[in-house]
Amino acid sequence: LDNGLGLTPPMGWNSWNHFGCGINETIVFETADAMVSTGLAEQGYTYINIDDCWAALERDDEENLQARPTTFPSGIKAIADYVHSKGLKLGIYSDAGFFTCAHQPGSLGHEYQDAQTFASWDVDYLKYDNCYSDLSTPKTRYPVMTDALNKTGRSIFFSMCEWGVEDPATWAPGVGNSWRTTGDIWDSWNSMVEIADLNDQWAEYAGPGGWNDPDMLEVGNGGMTMEEYRSHFSVWALMKAPLLIGCDVRDVSSEMIALLSNREVIAINQDELGVQGRKVSVQGSNGLLQVWAGPLSLGRTVVLLWNRSDMGGTITAEWGDIGLQSGTAVTIYDIWKNETVNETGIDLLSSEVSPHSVAMFILTPANVILDSGTSEYMR
Ligand code: DGJ
Repeated sequence: LDNGLGLTPPMGWNSWNHFGCGINETIVFETADAMVSTGLAEQGYTYINIDDCWAALERDDEENLQARPTTFPSGIKAIADYVHSKGLKLGIYSDAGFFTCAHQPGSLGHEYQDAQTFASWDVDYLKYDNCYSDLSTPKTRYPVMTDALNKTGRSIFFSMCEWGVEDPATWAPGVGNSWRTTGDIWDSWNSMVEIADLNDQWAEYAGPGGWNDPDMLEVGNGGMTMEEYRSHFSVWALMKAPLLIGCDVRDVSSEMIALLSNREVIAINQDELGVQGRKVSVQGSNGLLQVWAGPLSLGRTVVLLWNRSDMGGTITAEWGDIGLQSGTAVTIYDIWKNETVNETGIDLLSSEVSPHSVAMFILTPANVILDSGTSEYMR
C-alpha cells in the first residue's frame, strides 16, 4: 500500500499469542516499559499492538467504539500518550465483520467512524481481522478501511488479517501494508514449519510497502526448544515477515531476549532491498535438509541452511541455487556463530546443522567495499 509506511517489515510486540483475551492496560503499560528496559525498543521493535478484547462489548450512544471499562479504564488515548512518551507506537485491532473473533463490535459498516476514532486516539497501526463476515467478499470489505484510514490524514499502518482467503497476496498489495498468508500460528515446531511453507509460495508479491504476514512470533512462549525458536526467528527474518514479538517480555529469559535482539538477523529482515527470501533447494532422502536464500542490498546474499529433520545433517548451498554466478568470490559471515568462515568449497557453502536448527550466513561479493567494518555494513 502506497501510504509511505512499511518500507521495511513492521517490528514490535502484540498481545495475542501470549495473553489472548486476558489482556489489560497494566500489561500494556508494563510491556512498553519492558520493551525499553530490555533493549528491544532500541533494536527497532517499535509497535506495541493491542489485539482482540480491548473494546467494550457495546458501542456508545453515538455508535463509537469505546475501551472496555473493566480492563482498559484509562482509555486508549491515554495508553497511546504513554507509549509515545517512550518513543514507541501504538497499534489497535478491529475486524472487517460484524464482530471481532472474541465478539466485540466489528467495524463493518462503521469503517469511517472507527478510523476517525482510532486517529483521534493517536493510534499508529491497525490490525484488521476477518471474523463474522462473508469470507467471499474480502476484496470489497478491506479496501473500505484502507480508504477510511487514508481519509483520517493520520499515518496508520494497515495490517490485514484476512485469514481464510485463498489468494490474498495477488490483490492485497494495494490494500494493506501487510496481509496474512495463513491461519493462526501455534507455539509448536509443526505449526511453525507448516506456516513457513505456506508463506513461501507468495514470496514474489512482497516488497517495500506491503509484506506477506505468516503470523506473529512465538519465540519465548515455551512450546519450542531454543534451536527451534532460532529457526523460527531466522526464517521469519529471511522471509521479510513482520517481526511482532508474541511473548511476555516482562518475564522472559535473557536467552530469548538475546535471540530476538540479534542485530544481523534483524538487519536482514530490515534490509532496504526488501526482497523476500525463498526455499531454493531441498536435500536428504525426505527433503528435510533445506536451503533458503535471498538477495540483500549491496549485492549480498543471505543463506539459511535449515535442518528440519530429527537427525543431524550436512546441507549444501550451491551458487546456482542461491543466484550467484559460478566463480563468484565472496566473504562468508556466519551470523549465529558470529564469525567469518574461512574454509569453503568452490561455488558452494556447506555446513553440518543440528536437528531442528539453522546456520545462517551473509555472503558478500569480494568486490564490495564495506564502509566501516563487518558489523556496521549489515545494519
Ligand atoms: C484471529 C487472528 O488470526 C489472531 O491473530 C487474533 O487476532 C485473533 N483472531 C483474535 O481474536
